Amino acid sequence: MGRRELKRTGLNGDGWYEVSRWMALIRVAEARDIPELAETLSQAFDGDPVLSWVVRDDDKRPKALRRLFTYILRESIPHGEVTATAELDACAVWVPPGIWAKPPGLLESLLMLPETLRWAGWDRLRRFMDMDAAEYKKRPKKPHFYLAILGVRPSRQGTGLGSSLLGHTLSRLDEAGMPAYLENSNPANTPLYERHGFRVFDEFSLRGGGPTEWCMWRDPRGPSVNS
Ligand SMILES: CC(C)(COP(=O)(O)OP(=O)(O)OC[C@H]1O[C@@H](n2cnc3c(N)ncnc32)[C@H](O)[C@@H]1OP(=O)(O)O)[C@@H](O)C(=O)NCCC(=O)NCCS
Repeated sequence: MGRRELKRTGLNGDGWYEVSRWMALIRVAEARDIPELAETLSQAFDGDPVLSWVVRDDDKRPKALRRLFTYILRESIPHGEVTATAELDACAVWVPPGIWAKPPGLLESLLMLPETLRWAGWDRLRRFMDMDAAEYKKRPKKPHFYLAILGVRPSRQGTGLGSSLLGHTLSRLDEAGMPAYLENSNPANTPLYERHGFRVFDEFSLRGGGPTEWCMWRDPRGPSVNS
């Protein structure tokens, strides 16, 4: 799946869009969107329990969050499944099966160390690496689409953009018969994910008294009997 399979319900001059069931204009994110989307996600996740635990907590924190999301977007956008609203005020980072499925090897981790340090600082480096390892350990082996990040600018939260992005990709996964997986870092989001068919099947707490993450799985929905 990818941009080529987006329905051609709207072509807005600078990209492919689909008008979702919730009437938000949604399109596949591109490399040129990264600065704006990194800002959107930094703002969205500023109070997130897990990132508040692992990202540095000094005056470099805003920059560290932007760098972290810039890195995640750079790594995920080429797979063609990151979606965003037309105004780039909401973003869903999905990755297809097999991507980020295995933890990085020793060499890769060493090469990543300077960047990880910029996100976490020395004080929280251990926490960051523990989180990464714990998340990899819980990742189901069965092929699935992984929702790594879903975030909406604080000023637009509660207006349906997160549901729009979720529903957009999930309906495509239903057509493809593909399951989905996510780690929910905030219990306030559980009802939203449950409404979209995800179920909690496991949980883990980060070492040293850190927050809990809930592992949520969604089997694809079959065609409705009425359709
Ligand atoms: C969680 C999030 C993506 C939902 O997107 P949204 O556009 O705000 O949500 P929608 O308007 O589509 O749906 C509203 C539902 O989202 C949930 N929700 C979670 N956090 C919310 C928030 N800060 N404001 C409003 N709704 C929120 C509620 O369950 C709400 O359902 P309700 O109306 O029954 O209370 C968005 O609020 C966000 O970016 N939050 C901060 C980052 C985050 O927690 N991301 C997910 C990490 S697992």
